[in-house]
Amino acid sequence: MAKILVTGGTGYIGSHTVVELQKAGFEVIIVDNLSNSNIDVLNGIEKITGIRPVFENIDCVDYVALDRMFEKHPGIDAIIHFAASKAVGESVEKPLMYYRNNLTSLINLQQLMPIHKVKNFVFSSSCTVYGQPDELPVTENAPIKPALSPYGNTKQICEEIIQDTAHSNSFYRSIILRYFNPIGAHPSAEIGELPNGVPNNLLPFVTQTAIGLRKELKVFGSDYNTPDGTCIRDYINVVDLAKAHVIAVKRLLEEKAEKAVEIFNLGTGRGLSVLEIIKTFEKVNGVAVPHQFVGRREGDIEQVWADPTYANNVLGWKAEETVEDTLKSAWAWETKLAQQRAEKKSSEE
Ligand code: UFG
Repeated sequence: MAKILVTGGTGYIGSHTVVELQKAGFEVIIVDNLSNSNIDVLNGIEKITGIRPVFENIDCVDYVALDRMFEKHPGIDAIIHFAASKAVGESVEKPLMYYRNNLTSLINLQQLMPIHKVKNFVFSSSCTVYGQPDELPVTENAPIKPALSPYGNTKQICEEIIQDTAHSNSFYRSIILRYFNPIGAHPSAEIGELPNGVPNNLLPFVTQTAIGLRKELKVFGSDYNTPDGTCIRDYINVVDLAKAHVIAVKRLLEEKAEKAVEIFNLGTGRGLSVLEIIKTFEKVNGVAVPHQFVGRREGDIEQVWADPTYANNVLGWKAEETVEDTLKSAWAWETKLAQQRAEKKSSEE
């Protein structure tokens, strides 16, 4: 049974990926510093798969601690590196924190890989590297545009570090996955997105507004050059996204990769506007999402959606869930969280 290290494995995409890895028979070791996640996620994973993953509370910025972790768990076959800070706005306010966290973590792992004989690496990147593409849908060959935030810049620099490291040493095998907008939760509602504080992303804000935690959703901009004036994104189901990681890991382990560094877009190929998301959410879940239009959010891209043909053909992976089912899963998860809060409150009374 191959052993996979998942950094950021208690996070949103990380936890869904751990579930799919375990279902596929992989042994998983999670490294996470719980800076934006909760240890209870391990319970959710265990409920779904029946297996509690090994967990190490480590900050990937800490080289010595990571080194010890590799000593303690010999024979790791591949790393999936999710652990990173990811809030665009926060990165503008605290650029050094973003550069330190996101770059140092990657550099530490890349340095430790040959020492501990781990050849295979899957990296969490983002469609943010394309900026506003000149042509839509966007393929992997689209030019990289100047980043609009320190966060976006860290993804670009990390991709370059991976390329340069692979170029310097034929030991390394990497797959870079450029995610579009992951949404939804596991169909069991045992794990899902759990942002700390006020959500930055659209879907958690939608679900928290629908459940009454937030008064109303602010729709950032209604005067974009799109059919209904709101921004367009390619929203991809998080379980579909997680499954792509399992395929990527298998591809590396089976030595099927055609280049030292392969890059894939992970999206559905379909763009939806903010208003379409709100309306569809309201319709499939039978719940209102109070919202009002406000000014544009700085740094937002008008429209972007993926051309996933390369991933479809080469990885044999395709986004399968409908947006309706995905929005239902997001609501089921938010409802479950509300239920848990109510139970906790009544047990305290
Ligand atoms: N939006 C709102 N109101 C909100 C939150 C979001 O109208 O309260 C809108 C945004 O303006 C945007 C859309 O919803 O049009 C999606 O916004 P998100 O913040 O959910 O996602 P982004 O596309 O801005 O950002 C995501 C990831 C980033 C990544 C980026 C790449 O969160 O990590 O995609 O484009 F860098």
